[in-house]
Amino acid sequence: MSRPLPTVFDQALASAVRAPSPHNTQPWRFAVEGDVIEVWLDRERVLTVADPHAREARLACGAAAFNLQICLRANGLAAVVRILPDPAEPDLVAVLRLDGNQKATAVERKLAEAVFRRHTNRRPLLDKEVPPSVRSALKSAALQEGGQIDYLDASGRYTPVASLVRQAEALQAEDLAFRAETAYWTQRAADSPDGVPKIAAGPPPHGHGIVSLRGSHENPDLPSREYEQEPLLGAVLTRDRGPHAEVRAGMVMQRILLTATAEGLATSFLSQPFETPRTRESLDRIFAGLGQPHTLLRIGYGYPTRLTARRPVDEVLRHRTGPDVTAG
Ligand SMILES: Cc1cc2nc3c(=O)[nH]c(=O)nc-3n(C[C@H](O)[C@H](O)[C@H](O)COP(=O)(O)O)c2cc1C
Repeated sequence: MSRPLPTVFDQALASAVRAPSPHNTQPWRFAVEGDVIEVWLDRERVLTVADPHAREARLACGAAAFNLQICLRANGLAAVVRILPDPAEPDLVAVLRLDGNQKATAVERKLAEAVFRRHTNRRPLLDKEVPPSVRSALKSAALQEGGQIDYLDASGRYTPVASLVRQAEALQAEDLAFRAETAYWTQRAADSPDGVPKIAAGPPPHGHGIVSLRGSHENPDLPSREYEQEPLLGAVLTRDRGPHAEVRAGMVMQRILLTATAEGLATSFLSQPFETPRTRESLDRIFAGLGQPHTLLRIGYGYPTRLTARRPVDEVLRHRTGPDVTAG
């Protein structure tokens, strides 16, 4: 018996779950009804120590919503996204409603395709600068989603932010609850459907760079390597703060990451200073006047690494009565 062809919604949901999430927790659930896809925050998958207010989880859900939207667009379907549409349901993060046909642009098709190649690259980057044209492309990507990326080397914020990354990394290394939570989600087997597998970790650094990646995301089995001294760092910002801005920032972040992937760049995150209250306050002060910082990206050229697995869509889909539009 032949299997039915996947519908556009099947494809969109397969794209949604490829979104990045803290420690690959995948803190989302989806519901499909008619021409609507809902994105829900899954409280049971929020990191209670690193992310007690579900800020990073909302970024991840925003990224998943962006993947849904870009996949629909690439299939010639427009979708209107409403963020946190119902004050009575704060965990209903976003609702996408189909909004007619719209011919896909070349950029939309490129970004939709990049969803399945984007991954977090924790290995050393090559000693090759990101050219101004590519920096501008990432800036435009952020603006298009209503946010911005601030390149720290251009703004004089590099040294103070890099120092906060190192400070937060040191604080977290001393914090038993933090370490236990991280240990639970990392160093997993390669086929683990969630969490960060060992194969996605980088080699231990040889010497100290200006920023430190998470020690917990190192693979001790690999020989130590020298990392780039001063990677390009970009802070993702929105004008506002709070849960709505966090979902929006997730969409901004994801368009930046997919644009970077399409441009042949490697990306990873430096979230440590967002996760300890003291360094987070300092971060807010450093960016005061410019916007609300949500995440910090390390961007450069590198060799691609392996993709990490995801839970199957069936596990995160609550119910479905979707339209029967076959994927192109
Ligand atoms: C909000 C957010 C914060 C993250 N922070 C870090 C981080 O500090 N260090 C890191 O190595 N990865 C970080 N990640 C990347 C996740 O670990 C990664 O997305 C997840 O393991 C899935 O892997 P993939 O991105 O390769 O698909 C973060 C992801 C998100 C969405």
